[in-house]
Amino acid sequence: MNMEEVKNSLINDLEKANDLKELNDLKVEYLGKKGKITELNQMIKDIPNEEKKEFGQKVNELRTMFNDIYEEKKNAFEAAALNEKLAKEAIDITLPSKKVKRGSKHPMTRITEQFEDLFVSMGYTVYEGPEIESDENCFQKLNLPKGHPARDAQDTFYLKDEYENFLLRSQTSTAQVRVMEENVEKGPIRVVCPGKVYRRDEDATHSHQFMQIEGLVIDENVSMADLKGTLELFCKKILGEKTNVRFRPSFFPFTEPSVEVDVTCFKCGGKGCPLCKQTGWIEVLGAGMVHPNVLEMSGYDSTKYQGFAFGTGMDRFAMFKYGIPDIRTIYGNDIRFIEQFDKKDGE
Ligand code: PHE
Repeated sequence: MNMEEVKNSLINDLEKANDLKELNDLKVEYLGKKGKITELNQMIKDIPNEEKKEFGQKVNELRTMFNDIYEEKKNAFEAAALNEKLAKEAIDITLPSKKVKRGSKHPMTRITEQFEDLFVSMGYTVYEGPEIESDENCFQKLNLPKGHPARDAQDTFYLKDEYENFLLRSQTSTAQVRVMEENVEKGPIRVVCPGKVYRRDEDATHSHQFMQIEGLVIDENVSMADLKGTLELFCKKILGEKTNVRFRPSFFPFTEPSVEVDVTCFKCGGKGCPLCKQTGWIEVLGAGMVHPNVLEMSGYDSTKYQGFAFGTGMDRFAMFKYGIPDIRTIYGNDIRFIEQFDKKDGE
């Protein structure tokens, strides 16, 4: 092919190229090792010297021409491909979105947080003990030696073999012992201990696993009046200002004197209904002044320090507050149950 023919076919071929691949094939065809322009270039050595310069220039012009057209077409192809891709991937913002499901807090988490917030605002710290406990911490150091009849009411799950001395704690009072023992200075304490406890129970109002919160205050000059004021405030804050609180003498081996605390029935407001068994009152707390034996067993000087302690089942508060009829639903793990509480708390 002579120069003119190469030029014509080059324009023609490039014109006809339909895509990037055809374009690149042409590059090989014209500028590759055996390409048409390359071949022209090789002819230089066979032509007379005086024509070499002009011939060389023309070959260069051809090469430039090829490259210019090539670049132009290549850019056009790439732009078209990009546009096509963009069109294909366009997001239709008018489509309805997929609903993102928002999680919600379990009612027991809600109640625990409310209790903790209240006590933290009164200067208490939060302490959580383990659920697997020793017989000493759960009973003996709370003034319930082996064989004590009051253990019966708190029958629980015992570990076997070399862990025979361990059990699933039946009350958060065990955390009292831990807090007192861990306090090496044997000074004042103000703590609440929420957590799971276990007992051999199972019906609509009792579950083998439930949650308690324990309070312990130790200091000099702590009296029953402090206990009363604290628990009255606590009941009113959690259950509403209209709640009346009543203290009845009771017995716990680790407190002396001991009380049980009743609140006016949240359902009937004290008039009497099936929930409160027509009495107008519902029992919610056990409490009392820490027994001197308990203080001494954990290294406290009972002539210098006094304390009060209280314990309550948080599930009962959740049941009252949210109107949950069966405690077992709290631990049933049904998402339809858990979801409802966002609305109830107005979150
Ligand atoms: N631990 C007792 C119970 O589970 C409640 C309690 C706690 C009573 C602290 C007095 C003081 O029944």
